[in-house]
Amino acid sequence: MTLFKKIIFLLLILAICSCDSETENTSFRIGFSQAMTTDNWRRQMNRSMQVEASLHPGLHLEIKDAQNDVQRQIGQIENFIKQGVDVLIVSPIQSQPITPVIEKAMNSGIPTIVIDRKIEGSNYTSYIGADNVEIGKNAANFILSHSNGEIEVVEITGLKGSSPAYERSEGFTSVIQNANGVKLASQIRGDWEKASVKKELEYILDSIKTPDFIFAHNDRMALGAWEVARSKNLEDDIKIIGVDGLFGPNGGIQLVKEGLLTATILYPTGGGEAIKLADRILSGENVPKNNILSTVVIDSVNVNIMQNQFNRINQQQYDIEKQQEIIGQQLATYRSQSILIKVMIGLSVLLFILGLWAAYLVFKLKRSKRKLEINNKKIKTQRNQIETFAEKLQIINESKINFFTALSHEFKTPLSLIISSIESITDRENKNIQEFSYETSLIVNNSKRLLRLIDELLDFRKLESGNLKPRPVKTGIIGFLQNIYEDFKSEALRKSIQLEFKAPGNEVEVYIDRNMMDKVFYNILSNALKFTPHNGKILIQIEESTSNSVEIRIKDSGIGIPKEEWEQIFDPFRQASNNARPSSGLGLYISKQYIELHKGKIEVYSHQGSEFKITILKGDDHLKEYEVETIDPGNTYQKQFETVSPPEIGEVTLPENAESILIIEDNPDLSHLLSKKFSKRYKVYLSDGRKAVEMALDLIPDIIICDLNLPEKSGFEISRELKNDLRTSHIPTIILTALNDEESRLKALKAGADAYITKPFNFEILLESLRTALYNREKLRYYYTNRIDRIADENFEDSEQQFLKELNEHIQNNLKDPDFSVEELARLLKISRVQLYRKVKALLDISISEYINEQRLRKARHLLKDTSLNISEIAYSVGFSSPGYFSTSFKNKFGESPKQFRK
Ligand code: FRU
Repeated sequence: MTLFKKIIFLLLILAICSCDSETENTSFRIGFSQAMTTDNWRRQMNRSMQVEASLHPGLHLEIKDAQNDVQRQIGQIENFIKQGVDVLIVSPIQSQPITPVIEKAMNSGIPTIVIDRKIEGSNYTSYIGADNVEIGKNAANFILSHSNGEIEVVEITGLKGSSPAYERSEGFTSVIQNANGVKLASQIRGDWEKASVKKELEYILDSIKTPDFIFAHNDRMALGAWEVARSKNLEDDIKIIGVDGLFGPNGGIQLVKEGLLTATILYPTGGGEAIKLADRILSGENVPKNNILSTVVIDSVNVNIMQNQFNRINQQQYDIEKQQEIIGQQLATYRSQSILIKVMIGLSVLLFILGLWAAYLVFKLKRSKRKLEINNKKIKTQRNQIETFAEKLQIINESKINFFTALSHEFKTPLSLIISSIESITDRENKNIQEFSYETSLIVNNSKRLLRLIDELLDFRKLESGNLKPRPVKTGIIGFLQNIYEDFKSEALRKSIQLEFKAPGNEVEVYIDRNMMDKVFYNILSNALKFTPHNGKILIQIEESTSNSVEIRIKDSGIGIPKEEWEQIFDPFRQASNNARPSSGLGLYISKQYIELHKGKIEVYSHQGSEFKITILKGDDHLKEYEVETIDPGNTYQKQFETVSPPEIGEVTLPENAESILIIEDNPDLSHLLSKKFSKRYKVYLSDGRKAVEMALDLIPDIIICDLNLPEKSGFEISRELKNDLRTSHIPTIILTALNDEESRLKALKAGADAYITKPFNFEILLESLRTALYNREKLRYYYTNRIDRIADENFEDSEQQFLKELNEHIQNNLKDPDFSVEELARLLKISRVQLYRKVKALLDISISEYINEQRLRKARHLLKDTSLNISEIAYSVGFSSPGYFSTSFKNKFGESPKQFRK
């Protein structure tokens, strides 16, 4: 940036300098001190200097007028010296007083040209002017040539002390004195001006003889003499000769032409020549010291030629001046235009630079914008990462919360069982040994289960804090696993699962922390049992895969694990999506950690069931960091659970019409306990959750008790399906669950549950809820039975009323058809005959055929009352094939025959 600014600054300076280049062409300054400018001769001198100077563009002429004042002239010259003019030109007023200042100029190194009048000595560069002695001689010779005999002459001189005055006089007298018959009658001292002549001349003319000739040193004084002569009427008698021979009004040439003067001697001003001389000096040329200008006598003979010539010269001078003026104007225009062009060029350059600068700024702006965009992108990515991270954290947090919630629920079922068992033991007076041992073993097993859950939690904590170290012990792995297998055998048998154990004949020694490995295999086998259906298969297989490792595979034919979740199932707090079973979700995580502490590995595959492959290294080289015990301490395996066979529920004879309960519960202990408790009063059916809806449809029980966390479908789904099905919608449902949050309660009620009881529960409360639900059902049945003929007209949203309404409509529509059967009615209602039977029995406590019959008889009663149809007609119209059977049925129902009723 700074470099760029520097370049712009430099370019600007250059542009400004180029505008000023004109001043570089330095001119020479010529200072001219003019004696005076009161007369035309002097004005002509100035003019010719200016014209000449104008022809030299490098010369600058400055004219100063001394106004015939010697002191002033000295001062002005001093001034020129001070200014340091390149050439000084002086036309001195007088010779002597001006000489020192000219010498001073010369001493200062300024070339000095003296013009017209001279100074004393020769300390100047050049003199220019006509030869004034010659002029005096010319005047005298002219007089001599125009005279006969004796003549008298009067001389009028110029200012005393000025060189032309004494030189002209010298030349004139030198010729007159030597001529015969010529007498210089008198000499008048003039000062170059007319006024200085008159007084003396008048006196001369009045007092002495009239002279024949008067020679005046210039034309102005000559004219003065003529005027005096004329005033005395002597103008024709005296011939007057002047000097200068100026062209123009009152100039010598005009005076000669008009006859006022006889002649005038040309005295050129030398103005133009002086400038030319100065130019030559400035060019370094050596110039002559004296530059004498030629002179000529103008009289009546040559005056016209002279006038013409001067006229032409004057005209030329005028033309030159005009052209100079035009040139000057054009020069001024050129200068202003050239300045304009330069300014424009300068501006263009500036504009170009600004353009470049703007482009540079745009480029910079774009670059910083791009940078900003990149930064923005980075920030966005970071934000997304943070968001993803936050989401992950939230998921983890939720998983943890879910985990702890699930775990606390897990504590509830064993607790319920323990509490119920204790209640049962303490309540009963006649304890039968078998029952007692069953309940105590339930207490023991479930307490152990709680302990295990707590152990799992503690192990998890230890693993998380890294404080858990295995204590490997030399162990025969086949024997070790065989023991575990034996433990699970009876459990498998109870669930009708085929449990197989395959191992090589010879024992394989490994180093394991038995306690840890025990938990690993117990966990994996428990899972296998949990997820394998009845009649399924579980295989435990041990293989020496390589010389230094052993592989244990546990393969089941259960629900399996979706492939994308294989890795996930080892995460803490996670379980497979198809597993709705309650569990801590820590088991597999802990198992994996234990195996990895042993430098082994666990893998999962799933194809038609799950397969866990555990690889354990042989020897103890890989376990150096732990304390290894090489002596087998013997089998210390502790049984993880005792399988308690529930006591056979004694045969209880229930009344024919005993109500039925369907208990949907996957904890076998709990479902057995409930079954035992209810079977004295109710017909009890059990479902572990699988095919529960099918079972309910098949049985149409009077009431259902249902858990929420179930393997196949949740209790919510089961309840919802049953309530939405016409065949089962009337069945009261009691939810028995470990979930005690408001949300689950509300969800269950929305799904149609009639009561919601949470674990651990009090059996009495459960029983009472069951009774209330059945009693309410009874009340409703009573209500329906008594309003059955009106239900058809009522418009209720209740599904049971809807059902009854539909039922009645079908019966009424087919009343006169004696062949209208229960099957036909079931078909119309799109349910099975048995379901129709059970539904009607449940709602109205009457068989469906009885109900149809009742409808026929009620209709007949209406007809008997409100129409005049005879009894046979009425009997046929309500579907009785014989009037006799109609009468019998009518009498059975209403206590009197149709005939009697009509009366
Ligand atoms: C002009 C003038 C001329 C004369 C000259 C002599 O001022 O008087 O008439 O010839 O000066 O220096």
